[in-house]
Amino acid sequence: MPYAIVREISASIASCELSFVSREPIDLPLARAQHAAYQRVLEALGCQLIVLPAEDALADAVFVEDVALVLDEVALMTRPGAASRRAEGRAVATVLRKYRPLLAIEAPGTLDGGDVMRVGKRIFVGQSARSNASAVDQLLALLAPHGYRVESVPMRDCLHLKSAVTAVSDDTLLINPQWVSATAFADFKLIEIDPAEPHAANALRIGDALVYPACFPRTQARLQAAGIEVRTVDVSELQKAEGAVTCCSLVFE
Ligand code: GLY
Repeated sequence: MPYAIVREISASIASCELSFVSREPIDLPLARAQHAAYQRVLEALGCQLIVLPAEDALADAVFVEDVALVLDEVALMTRPGAASRRAEGRAVATVLRKYRPLLAIEAPGTLDGGDVMRVGKRIFVGQSARSNASAVDQLLALLAPHGYRVESVPMRDCLHLKSAVTAVSDDTLLINPQWVSATAFADFKLIEIDPAEPHAANALRIGDALVYPACFPRTQARLQAAGIEVRTVDVSELQKAEGAVTCCSLVFE
């Protein structure tokens, strides 16, 4: 049974970092209700939840994916690119050290977990404003002994690599080719998002199912046509905080 670390939404979420979306009012009670429903979907897909309390001083702390990378052999604490997010890792590290030996990215490296897409033993890292070359060099050195190949991928016009591409099965990626070039992923089958839904490339894979935003029906139809089981969630409020479905959990066996 996989574990899923989640953290309740900070009361200060309205002060979150924003890069590519404009600030809009966030309905906090609705955001919390949607986040609770997301947790229920994770449970229905077999995850054992580890729920961290909200940290109201850390506006973006619900986005636990950005502070750690959990592999089969080790966990790695990132060093988020936004200085306001650097303290978010503390509580997550306290949990993860019960399950894995802990590694860490050190300064001057910066890395957001949202920029890291693992598919098998391949780790793709987006060249975003949040993640830098020093972090990629550190990942190479730390993970090569465990058999991982680390590849740096150019991207544009979005916050994280996983805004632009996510794995939807062992050999298939869901991609927005306007934000990341398909050439980096020549070994994979690709499903393109519907062009009317540019934010639709972020899907959370749990086993053979996908947790997926309900607001992208055209791309959802493409996924279902490919035989993929989709469980939809409404994430309208955390999308205003430039969040998506992968960033709200850390899922590991
Ligand atoms: N609000 C998500 C981020 O910018 O990190």
